Amino acid sequence: MTFTDIPTRFYELTGHHPAGVWAAPGRINLIGEHTDYNGGYVLPFAIEQSALLAARPRSDGRWRFSSLDLDSTVESGDLAPGETGWQAYLAGVVWALREAGHDVGGADFVLSSNVPIGAGLSSSAAIECATLTALCDLHDLDIDPMSRARLAQRAENAYVGAPTGLMDQAASTLCTADHALFLDCHTLAVQQVPLRIADAGLTILVIDTRTPHSHVDGEYAARRASCEQACRILGIDLLRQVTDLDAALTQLPPLEARRVRHVVTENQRVLDTVEALTSSDFATVGALMTASHASMRDDYEITVPTVDLAFETLLAAGALGARMTGGGFGGCVLGLIAADRADAAAAAVAEAFAAAGYGTPVSFTSHPAAGAHRIA
Ligand code: GLA
Repeated sequence: MTFTDIPTRFYELTGHHPAGVWAAPGRINLIGEHTDYNGGYVLPFAIEQSALLAARPRSDGRWRFSSLDLDSTVESGDLAPGETGWQAYLAGVVWALREAGHDVGGADFVLSSNVPIGAGLSSSAAIECATLTALCDLHDLDIDPMSRARLAQRAENAYVGAPTGLMDQAASTLCTADHALFLDCHTLAVQQVPLRIADAGLTILVIDTRTPHSHVDGEYAARRASCEQACRILGIDLLRQVTDLDAALTQLPPLEARRVRHVVTENQRVLDTVEALTSSDFATVGALMTASHASMRDDYEITVPTVDLAFETLLAAGALGARMTGGGFGGCVLGLIAADRADAAAAAVAEAFAAAGYGTPVSFTSHPAAGAHRIA
């Protein structure tokens, strides 16, 4: 599906031309995993893969959602949290806007996305943020970007029912080309950090392990619950408030101690990565990525064998650093690597997967792209 096909398909499906077409990207998190819901730091960038959404208001107040990828059209009259199905990511945004007091009423939407689903690249946030951007434009809603991201997060949390943090929607809304978004999830302060890796002869190689992660929702909620339990024991509201890690660890049972050690050290790695990027010290960025992966594997326990094999193979193939990105239990592994070594590294991972009897991974290189915007 190309940009130009969307208006044509919209006309075929609805008998009208769209009022506009909007795009919102997926994201890669460079570093700062499972820190967002702990009030910590994250450093994602938007990817070129996006959700494209054509839309037009309807006068009868009804909502009609079409997915070109799934060849499916669903009508929704009453919007109710807990709705299941792909359209919940769009309907949830309508619901969140109305809950916040915005007068949005009835539209046709036609969606097509090339953000891989279930790969940890935020395919759902891309849909939510495209929907939100479209509705803000169609209804002239004056909502600042961070508030938009929070409304999209509310759709995901309260309507779809996934207890995620703010990172994905913030990245899809606020990222700019050639930059990573340094976000403080407690104060909501943001800083655009230049990510000019190509100037240094480097690239970010992404290995999509294609590992199905069926238990991901339960495991994600369990990690959140452990962090909340640790906060109760420590008498704080957010793990961000831990100031003396060693003292905190002595007060916690072994499982909560491992989870807290990941979150607290990961926050520091984000700060260190921002500093290293500022001085174009990519060797240090790579080392921090690798340390982040080890922490996710050993302390947060969210990696799986395919992910660890991709990580190890990328390092053996000369990556400056590597790490899994996203919620975990599968999905994608990043390698920060010399551009002229990326093909060989991708081939090495494919060979290692074949030798281990795993399915064939998909690889691509990625460049920091722009956040949600109108394209037509
Ligand atoms: C998922 C969630 C995010 C974040 C990451 C882990 O992508 O949607 O809010 O918690 O996992 O860093």
